[in-house]
Amino acid sequence: MQIAERARRVEPFYVMEIAKAAAKLAAEVAHTARPMIFLNIGEPDFTAPERVRQAAKRAVHEGHTQYTQATGLPRLRVAISHWYQQRFGVAIEPSRIVVTSGASAALQLACLALVNPGDEILMPDPSYPCNRQFVQAADGTARLLPTTPVQRFQLSASQVEQAWGPRTRGVLLASPSNPTGTSIAADELAAIQRVVAERNGITIADEIYLGLSHDAAYGQTALALGDQVVSINSFSKYFCMTGWRLGWLVVPPEAVEPVERLAQHLFICPSTISQHAALACFEPESLAEYELRREEFKARRDYFIPELNRLGLTVPVTPDGAFYAYADCSAACERLGLASSWEFAFEVMRRCHVVITPGRDFGSDSTARYVRFSTASSMAHLREAIARLEELLA
Ligand SMILES: Cc1ncc(COP(=O)(O)O)c(C=O)c1O
Repeated sequence: MQIAERARRVEPFYVMEIAKAAAKLAAEVAHTARPMIFLNIGEPDFTAPERVRQAAKRAVHEGHTQYTQATGLPRLRVAISHWYQQRFGVAIEPSRIVVTSGASAALQLACLALVNPGDEILMPDPSYPCNRQFVQAADGTARLLPTTPVQRFQLSASQVEQAWGPRTRGVLLASPSNPTGTSIAADELAAIQRVVAERNGITIADEIYLGLSHDAAYGQTALALGDQVVSINSFSKYFCMTGWRLGWLVVPPEAVEPVERLAQHLFICPSTISQHAALACFEPESLAEYELRREEFKARRDYFIPELNRLGLTVPVTPDGAFYAYADCSAACERLGLASSWEFAFEVMRRCHVVITPGRDFGSDSTARYVRFSTASSMAHLREAIARLEELLA
């Protein structure tokens, strides 16, 4: 069978190779003194709070399982709008909020609605690998611009200005970012938005980790810049509902109707059960629980990053959000006689029984120096992982 060019140009997801090898080894070492610790997983180790799970049960029991509007339950759009007001002090019309099957569907809708074939979208290197694919699926081109720790691994306005060419259509940023957990400074983001707006372009801000912001200086939504920014968000991370497949995007008023039409045809609607459950996320008790969890994620960061630094796995920019540590392992590679972070990740898996993610999937600039640790794991696991790494690097 002939496979379409579009599918053939999708790059391999290298991390799956590590995951496959890790699953095999994990089974072998499961009952030893050193079972596998998975610090490669980009999802909270918490599940949805009790009230949310009860709401899902009720929706099933009471038969609230029919299709909803393509843009989502009106009550949920209102609840999300209130959350923006309450948490970020930003007024967002519910009509600009489109509920989707996770941030993934939101990114797909945004790209299909806004990117023309041949358009170039600028994004930072390193960045979340799937974001490139959403642009490519819309027959656009993702162009990764190298970033440095000084830029917090984020794009700068001058870089965007210099890189802007005849085919450039806009920027796709993630703040806080996966894999670095670092956010873009508010003034830099405003400057980027100005550069983009002067060129009649689009700014898409992937804010899926914004709820898990640990630093007030960075924890602002890009939506504060006005109604021409597209923001992507999700119930997956802060709301701990990865497998429920629910997210949303906020679009400029004139983009609502085209996005809605696309959503109607491509998805009909996001999961009705998940939407009913998600209404309970915004009840005060649930929000209080989410805030406690955010504190826990922060405590893990505060323990783990200094420990990595102590071991010479330097984290050049302290993450201000999410649950990742992007560590430079080049000194460790030199000490162990390894060529790259790819080899380091396999070595750590084999010798420490700790699974981490090599930089390779996130870009090509200096990703051979970096590995990503996920700190969405219990403090006990994080402590044990540090002890094993210390032994390896001694
Ligand atoms: C930066 C970023 N954007 C989007 C997604 C997709 O999330 P969702 O589960 O909401 O589809 C992820 C998932 O890890 C992510 O890290």
